[in-house]
Amino acid sequence: MEKVGNHNSNSRKLFLSLALMLSISVASFAQDAAPAADATAATAAAPAASSGGDAAKGKELFNANCAACHKLDAKSTGPALRGVSGKHDMAWIYKWVHNSSDLIKSGDAAAVKLFEENNKIPMTAFPQLSEGDIDNIIAYTSEPKAEAAAPAPGQQLPGTPNGQEAGVSNNVILGALSLVMAILIVMLVLVNRVLRKVAAANGIEVAKKEPSLPIWKAFVKNQFLVLVSTIFLLLVGAYMVYGYLMQVGVDQNYEPIQPIHYSHRIHAGDNEINCKYCHSASRVSKTAGIPSLNVCMNCHKTISEVAETTATPEYSKAFYDEQIQKLYKAVGWDATTQSYTGKQEPVKWVRIHNLPDFVYFNHSQHVTTAGIECQTCHGPVQEFEIMKQFSPLTMGWCINCHRKTDVKMEGNEYYAKIHEELSKKYGVDKLTAAQMGGLECGKCHY
Ligand code: HEC
Ligand code: HEC
Ligand code: HEC
Ligand code: HEC
Ligand code: HEC
Ligand code: HEC
Repeated sequence: MEKVGNHNSNSRKLFLSLALMLSISVASFAQDAAPAADATAATAAAPAASSGGDAAKGKELFNANCAACHKLDAKSTGPALRGVSGKHDMAWIYKWVHNSSDLIKSGDAAAVKLFEENNKIPMTAFPQLSEGDIDNIIAYTSEPKAEAAAPAPGQQLPGTPNGQEAGVSNNVILGALSLVMAILIVMLVLVNRVLRKVAAANGIEVAKKEPSLPIWKAFVKNQFLVLVSTIFLLLVGAYMVYGYLMQVGVDQNYEPIQPIHYSHRIHAGDNEINCKYCHSASRVSKTAGIPSLNVCMNCHKTISEVAETTATPEYSKAFYDEQIQKLYKAVGWDATTQSYTGKQEPVKWVRIHNLPDFVYFNHSQHVTTAGIECQTCHGPVQEFEIMKQFSPLTMGWCINCHRKTDVKMEGNEYYAKIHEELSKKYGVDKLTAAQMGGLECGKCHY
């Protein structure tokens, strides 16, 4: 009876440790949730004080008319407009917005000073805006700045695939699980001992096993089995070595971290920027080329931050904005003065696609002459958050496509003639790249 009691107390321990494990992991989840709730409370508490006009209407008008040159909190083409009502009286602002050039010409001291300070860039005149409209805009610009929503501590840090918190609670669970395993092992040993004691007390003899021939000795004695398994092992080995060797130098899915987190999804996907706008060389030359940073600045002189909606659960707005700042640092662009400082640090993009030196591959031949979409070879780039090598770039890959793909004949006099001759020779209607000579070693190998 006493032994049974002992047994029970062990299972009680098991239940206790399970309960302990559960409560620990629940507590760590609660920790995750608490700061997030604080953060939402803080943003909700931001006061929405405004005087006169309707800030919501003002926001619309501001975005439609003024946002091209003004931001609320940072200098753009024009100065930052938050709190501008404190700098001038409303009558002056009406006149300024209706026609700033007139005001400057009239010799108004404040207007002239402002004009000179801003590199004498004239502001568009807005005679169509009523004083009520301007009141609304000014009400919008007078709203206090919303506290930048600091990333809640529980939120994943941008770019780090595993949040810290998740790691901690995983460790707790793992620890608890190994504790449970240890307890189970101890329990088994105890039960074994108790059973042996009971058996000994009752005079039952626990049968000892007859020593039989070990299995490996039996195996070695059977020569046929040895032969078959050796052949089998050799075949498997050869297959694996062959597979391994065929992968040497094939970098499919190579996805390095770039110095600037540049997203093709945002540029070529969401904003539908044409591949050839940036990789313009692909139309006319062997290489497609990586765009110089001047090309980026065509847009990024005015785009210094991403929209709220661009952020994803994985990458926050703050993370993306920081990447644009990296671009500014590299080209030496000072966003506050809207001018180049002249201090440049070239960005060292990591090259992804790279054929061996003995292969000749020409982009213009495929992109312009053959009219093949970039995506056929590079995959759905417009969906890649991080660029990677989509195709294997092996010789078999090139050859297969040359065998399958028809040459584009229409609208090309040169091909019309060749087509006539070759189609007679092959007795076909359509010609593949292979039939045009796309399998000749010398076409691809120097
Ligand atoms: C084409 C660009 C442009 C647009 C559009 C524009 N502004 Fe301006 N704004 C400027 C510039 C540049 C200045 C600085 C003075 C100068 O150089 O003329 C300025 C100055 C101002 C100032 C004075 C700021 C200060 O710090 O004293 C106010 C107020 C202002 N703008 C309001 C507006 C409003 C309201 C709208 C929209 C209805 C608007 N602006 C649209 C370019 C623009
Ligand atoms: C706004 C400019 C821009 C546009 C538009 C753009 N790219 Fe890129 N592309 C880049 C930059 C910058 C890099 C280098 C950074 C990187 O690898 O992510 C790059 C890298 C690449 C690479 C890898 C180069 C290497 O190192 O091997 C490929 C392939 C590529 N782009 C294809 C495309 C395709 C296809 C499209 C259209 C769907 C496209 N790009 C649109 C700027 C652009
Ligand atoms: C044709 C205009 C255009 C060009 C050219 C352009 N961008 Fe952008 N870029 C954008 C737009 C639009 C956004 C997104 C804004 C948004 O979503 O709110 C953006 C966002 C970004 C971001 C933040 C999101 C991300 O991808 O990480 C970075 C960094 C960036 N661009 C870098 C570059 C670099 C580097 C180049 C040059 C190779 C470049 N851009 C060229 C228009 C452009
Ligand atoms: C027929 C397949 C094919 C097509 C179509 C194709 N590419 Fe490529 N691309 C390649 C191969 C192969 C490489 C590796 C070239 C090398 O290492 O010399 C490459 C390399 C690149 C590179 C990096 C190296 C370089 O040449 O600068 C960029 C960027 C690139 N491609 C962009 C594009 C764009 C943009 C398009 C569409 C306009 C496009 N590619 C169309 C096969 C293709
Ligand atoms: C998506 C299909 C496709 C892939 C992949 C492809 N090619 Fe091609 N290639 C073509 C087509 C189509 C033509 C015919 C172009 C034309 O002249 O109209 C061509 C033409 C060529 C030519 C010129 C052949 C001639 O007769 O003058 C060379 C060289 C070439 N490709 C090399 C390569 C190499 C190297 C690779 C691999 C790295 C490759 N191609 C991958 C479709 C492809
Ligand atoms: C359509 C283009 C193309 C043609 C035609 C072509 N090759 Fe290749 N070849 C390649 C490419 C691309 C590679 C590089 C493959 C890699 O890096 O994995 C390659 C690699 C090789 C290699 C190195 C071994 C390897 O797999 O990396 C040899 C050898 C070779 N080719 C021989 C030939 C011979 C011989 C012919 C003519 C019968 C020929 N090639 C025709 C594109 C071609």
